[in-house]
Amino acid sequence: PIPVIIDCDTGVDDALALLFAVRHPALDVRAITCVAGNTDVDGVVRNTLTVLEVAGAGDIPVARGAERPLIEPVRTARHVHGQDGMADLGLPAPTRVPVDVDAVALLRREILASPRPVTLIPTAPLTNIALLLRTHPEVTRNIERIVFMGGAVATGNATPVAEFNVWHDPEAAAVLLTAGVPITMYGLDVFKRVLVPAGEVQRLRTSAEATLRLAGELLAHRDPATSGDPTPMGGLGDAGAICAVVDPKGITTEALPVEVVLAPGPARGQTIVDRRPRPGESEIHEGTREQPLVDVALDVDAERYVNLYLKTL
Ligand code: BDR
Ligand code: CA
Repeated sequence: PIPVIIDCDTGVDDALALLFAVRHPALDVRAITCVAGNTDVDGVVRNTLTVLEVAGAGDIPVARGAERPLIEPVRTARHVHGQDGMADLGLPAPTRVPVDVDAVALLRREILASPRPVTLIPTAPLTNIALLLRTHPEVTRNIERIVFMGGAVATGNATPVAEFNVWHDPEAAAVLLTAGVPITMYGLDVFKRVLVPAGEVQRLRTSAEATLRLAGELLAHRDPATSGDPTPMGGLGDAGAICAVVDPKGITTEALPVEVVLAPGPARGQTIVDRRPRPGESEIHEGTREQPLVDVALDVDAERYVNLYLKTL
């Protein structure tokens, strides 16, 4: 199996991602690290431990990470994910606690100890990953690839142009993009297209099995802002980034320069993806295409990922 570490801010769709990751036989989830994002970091740790217990994966080490972005204050998304950050389902509190080292230490330990290079899957603001890369740059020698959910080629969600994970900690995202390891950007463009049909969501909700019921409840959670609409949202969200590791052929990527806007103002946190034709083929001005190349997901076979998800669970 592929050794992976997930860095998350659980989070309704992070929870969906965890349920899938621990159940897929092609993945060896070596650790899970938590960061402030959808809710405060202690809430993220609680939600993560609870999800793993429901899924019978209570033995995977979980670490608490950064409680705020590098520069910005914490700006949670409880308005989307509920007061507890995980759809307010009233789930029991976890019976275990996180490991006694912080996220950066656990990431370093597990990456360097892995017999095969690790794939990192951040589905959250990139604070922990940036701190890791700056504190222990030697880890990159045992990182196969970083497949992160974040950024957007077209429209944002936190702002008209910025996606939440990048917007929450733009400096950290900029550190990630210049890490010098292969990177796949599973951005909002593909993220929002992978939707489980309402009938399947209903079937999961009424299942006799706790993991399936939890997945159903999470998929049925709706953004309160649009809750006038009675159809469940059904978005796999972050789980799609895990699908992209298991089944990379389900996305179409192109190696493109990506830059994060760090300047204050309405574009802060935007990922500018340079889709102009290659130099020589058009009038690209010198020095305007020097960002590192990122494999940006431009298209996704949504049905393929929905089927993969449902079959795996
Ligand atoms: C991202 O933001 C969070 O709210 C979701 O969990 C996802 O990781 C989408 O912009
Ligand atoms: Ca997330």
